[in-house]
Amino acid sequence: MFESIESLKNKKYICFCDENIHALYQEKISKLGPVFVFPSGEENKTRATKEQLEDRLLEKGISKEYTFVAIGGGMTLDLIGFLASTYMRGVDVIFVPTTLLACIDASFGGKNGVNTSFGKNLIGSFYSPKQIVIDMDFFVTLSEQEIFNGLAEGIKHALIKDALFFEEIESNYSRLFEKDRAFLKYFIEKNLGVKKGFVDGANRHCLNFGHTLAHAIEAVSCYQIPHGKAVFMGMLFASQLSPLEQNEKQRILQLFDRLDVQLETFAIELLIEKMKYDKKGFGQFILLKKIGECFDTTTQFTERQIKDAFMCLSSRAYV
Ligand SMILES: NC(=O)c1ccc[n+]([C@@H]2O[C@H](COP(=O)([O-])OP(=O)(O)OC[C@H]3O[C@@H](n4cnc5c(N)ncnc54)[C@H](O)[C@@H]3O)[C@@H](O)[C@H]2O)c1
Repeated sequence: MFESIESLKNKKYICFCDENIHALYQEKISKLGPVFVFPSGEENKTRATKEQLEDRLLEKGISKEYTFVAIGGGMTLDLIGFLASTYMRGVDVIFVPTTLLACIDASFGGKNGVNTSFGKNLIGSFYSPKQIVIDMDFFVTLSEQEIFNGLAEGIKHALIKDALFFEEIESNYSRLFEKDRAFLKYFIEKNLGVKKGFVDGANRHCLNFGHTLAHAIEAVSCYQIPHGKAVFMGMLFASQLSPLEQNEKQRILQLFDRLDVQLETFAIELLIEKMKYDKKGFGQFILLKKIGECFDTTTQFTERQIKDAFMCLSSRAYV
């Protein structure tokens, strides 16, 4: 899994990347085969972008004998994974995740999809890549913000499954920002292990911890708030709703404070409207029993309860 993309050389490849990755790595990528470039950003993870790419592929007469190579962050993997699942009723795809978030989360599990004006990831499919190639040379250009976004999903995995990993993150997260290769590799492997456990088990939906509110925040911000940052806010909210011991709540809040995570101001009514499109159903949240253990509550929270918890958090009345 940890290898350079130069090791891919036996097939006919079509590469896909967003404009940012293209600007940075055009030379490296084009050695694999023709490159299809599309606009970056969550706001372009849409049916329209997918359709434009499909038309360009058809114009060039690209057939099933090619393997698609999606090189980029989670937006690229979700978009191209979905495209690969429907183009000619399915072509092989290889994922080359280039953000930390994409390495530890979006590359694995088979979910892909696009956003619509109604909400996030509402149109998509399950379709797994034939191979995942983590080429750590791409990390050189990752911004602090992108490391922070990846850390969000890493903390999610630790909170729902692995208390010891949470402790390791508390002491070592700065090594991610320093791009310490050994710790990055350890962090990625550890996260993929947790994710695999959930994907293969009966509790896959627990991976949605923090995501109910996060998806609503992303949609209400017109995708200007990145996924990882929204997940941080969603986890803050879901921890607040959780029946955790007070000292564990404080521990989570302390880590989030060190990372400068705060719930930003949004009109809660708009968030609630978006949450009504949540695939789990309105008012259902994945919660924490304790750090390292989650559960799918049967409690259905009312609009009033959600509003109160949100107002309490935004005024930091919980401290
Ligand atoms: N399918 C899943 O299971 C799953 C899981 C988690 C998240 N996601 C999805 O992933 C997306 C978020 O992923 P993301 O944060 O990687 O977003 P992204 O793909 O938009 O990447 C973020 C930014 O980083 C840039 N970038 C990527 N790699 C870079 C590099 N090596 N150097 C410099 N810049 C680089 C991109 O061009 C983009 O501007 C969301 O759409 C989310 O829904 C999917």
